[in-house]
Amino acid sequence: MIEMTTLKKICEEFRFEGVLTECSPYGDGHINDTFLVVNKDKYEETVQYILQRVNHIVFKETEKLMSNIENITSYLSDMVREDELEGGYEVLKLIRTNNDNSYHKDLEGNYWRAYVFVKNATGYTFAKDNTMLYSAGKAFGQFQLMLKDYPVDSLFETIKGFHHTENRYENFLKVLEKDVHSRSKYCLDDIQFVKDRKNITTMILKALELGEIPYRVTHNDTKLNNVLIDNDSGIGRCVIDLDTVMPGSALYDFGDAIRSCGSTVAEDEEELELLKLDTARFDAYTNGFLEILKHELTQTEIELLPYSAIIMTFECGMRFLTDFLDGDNYFKVHKENHNLIRAKNQFRFVKEMENNLEVMIDIVNRYC
Ligand SMILES: Nc1ncnc2c1ncn2[C@@H]1O[C@H](COP(=O)(O)OP(=O)(O)O)[C@@H](O)[C@H]1O
Ligand SMILES: [Mg+2]
Repeated sequence: MIEMTTLKKICEEFRFEGVLTECSPYGDGHINDTFLVVNKDKYEETVQYILQRVNHIVFKETEKLMSNIENITSYLSDMVREDELEGGYEVLKLIRTNNDNSYHKDLEGNYWRAYVFVKNATGYTFAKDNTMLYSAGKAFGQFQLMLKDYPVDSLFETIKGFHHTENRYENFLKVLEKDVHSRSKYCLDDIQFVKDRKNITTMILKALELGEIPYRVTHNDTKLNNVLIDNDSGIGRCVIDLDTVMPGSALYDFGDAIRSCGSTVAEDEEELELLKLDTARFDAYTNGFLEILKHELTQTEIELLPYSAIIMTFECGMRFLTDFLDGDNYFKVHKENHNLIRAKNQFRFVKEMENNLEVMIDIVNRYC
């Protein structure tokens, strides 16, 4: 719990309009601490902001992260100004501190930042319908399209090797070898499942290294709730949560989005019989994403899209399994064997997609 007096002091560091009336926890983000700031301006009008304490355990180099966000948001807002985008697309806007900084570091070493509050829009954990997924696909596609000429090498890597699937595989083997909690005996099939798919761990990486696909500015956390959906029009109004924006592949963003929205059940559903690839959802997201990007993505990127969904889901499952073997150090667990349950769920989804690869390829081809 952060005291109100502390929050008030932090708010005073930022160039907020008006007088503070309320500052309270907001949203359902899992990484940062997010607050809604409500002020009254001199006309008694309400002005709202988002205040965030950055999680500096996950993000160790916060200055670099903030430099990325500052550069990306200012580049995007110049672009929106020059070339009014259809449909009211909005760019996340930082509020600067009194010292003209993009963040405030408090005496305890915490990093704080603030954004303009995006009004009349909602972040959804579960899609209400497939149109919402189409909108999210468009919004993440638009985000990538707008950044296509951004000098990708100038961005810092905020989490080193985030989608280096091969390194994650090596790490899995190391943890398995130590097996410090003697848990490997509970998941021999899952361990074999991972080992059987060693070849896919290098698929995207090799294509990047050989220059067969380009490095692009990628969001890297393309969950549905990182697009705010307009309450009236239903369009994906604003892409948020830019902490993991860094050099990567468009395939990471597409693949991880399908991982998080393409299955019929939640990520920790234990009844694996219920888990299917929801082709209608896959279709909706792909439709939105490719409507924006079909002329920008290369032929190889397009061919790899269905595989990227498999690889990103496999990578995530492998991370859950690694954490289970390692004693649940990274992902928060809420029940016994939670990480193993999640891993089994992701691997089941991988199998489902492997079995439906042709369907996925057909859908991708239909929208190109
Ligand atoms: N500029 C904004 N306007 C409105 N709501 C926002 C804004 N930024 C964040 N939020 C809300 O706060 C939640 C958490 O923010 P986010 O940046 O995604 O943090 P986390 O990294 O913890 O997921 C979001 O899911 C969204 O509901
Ligand atoms: Mg978020």
